[in-house]
Amino acid sequence: MPDTKMPNADISTKILNVKLSNPTILASGIVGISGAACCYAAKNGAGAVIPKSIGPREREGHNNPILTEFKGGFLNAVGLPNTGIDNSLGEIEFAMKNAGVPIIPSIFGGTKEEFGAVAEKMAALKPQMIEVNLSCPNTASDLGEAFALSEKAAAEVVSIVKSKTKVPIIAKLAPNVPSIRRIAKAVEEAGADAISAVNTMPGMAIDVKTGKPILHNKQGGVSGHAIKPIAVNCVYDIYEAVKIPIIGIGGVTTGEDAVEMIMAGAVAVEIGTAIYYRGIDVFRKVSDEVKLFMKENGYSRIKDMVGVAHEK
Ligand SMILES: Cc1cc2nc3c(=O)[nH]c(=O)nc-3n(C[C@H](O)[C@H](O)[C@H](O)COP(=O)(O)O)c2cc1C
Repeated sequence: MPDTKMPNADISTKILNVKLSNPTILASGIVGISGAACCYAAKNGAGAVIPKSIGPREREGHNNPILTEFKGGFLNAVGLPNTGIDNSLGEIEFAMKNAGVPIIPSIFGGTKEEFGAVAEKMAALKPQMIEVNLSCPNTASDLGEAFALSEKAAAEVVSIVKSKTKVPIIAKLAPNVPSIRRIAKAVEEAGADAISAVNTMPGMAIDVKTGKPILHNKQGGVSGHAIKPIAVNCVYDIYEAVKIPIIGIGGVTTGEDAVEMIMAGAVAVEIGTAIYYRGIDVFRKVSDEVKLFMKENGYSRIKDMVGVAHEK
């Protein structure tokens, strides 16, 4: 229950043993992997930064158009362009040395073995955590779909990554599954140390004048306001299914959005699309709004709000 006599609010939070000065984290893919861009997000208030997902080799990504806006957010099919793990370590290292906040590299692979190999190389930098992007619509398991859509495929990736590194891992899940509880349980049992949820939701937009899909890749992923209730629902379900910490992602734009995600069960939130609406200092704005909310509603610590929506 909120303590209405508590005028001060401490917005620091903890994921595993890593302390963040505030609960906002830059979501993967929004500012690329450049070390300077990661530092810029940190300078603008991000409590931690996740660079774009890095895979085993250089990859060009999709042709334009890769991004389109609609009333509820954005639709993207960027196609995971990246320079590959060997060419990216320098940028991650630069960010780790200079950002002043935890840098959480994000990795992906086309096969579970590739995930393991990329994780092993990334772990050499000794990051405090690695986010494992199981949920990108652009990488597929043997079943021809994102790893996070299958308990077995997701668990296999987590197991192999865990066998290659001692760095704690965050399994990033997809929203478009029949039971995210089952997927969450499967990755927890396979050794995931934390879960982040969610990645984008599959979506499509058609230009009715030409009768053709707007994105070059035709289909893409929805982010922003439209997926917030979906993300809150996923975090709520995951909280009931597992004991490991959860990071909530999807449409967080204001302090109240962040609080909602925390009340569903998250210890921190990732923010991506809201940068387009509120600028790169969205992290500072959201943190200030969380602090104000806590003061006005008598919460003194983030952990007092985590999962309160589950209390009977
Ligand atoms: C342009 C764009 C690129 C993205 N690239 C990645 C990526 O490389 N790896 C990843 O795990 N998620 C990626 N995402 C998903 C985001 O990290 C996040 O899960 C999603 O956008 C929902 O959060 P938001 O509504 O705050 O944007 C990308 C999203 C966008 C909009």
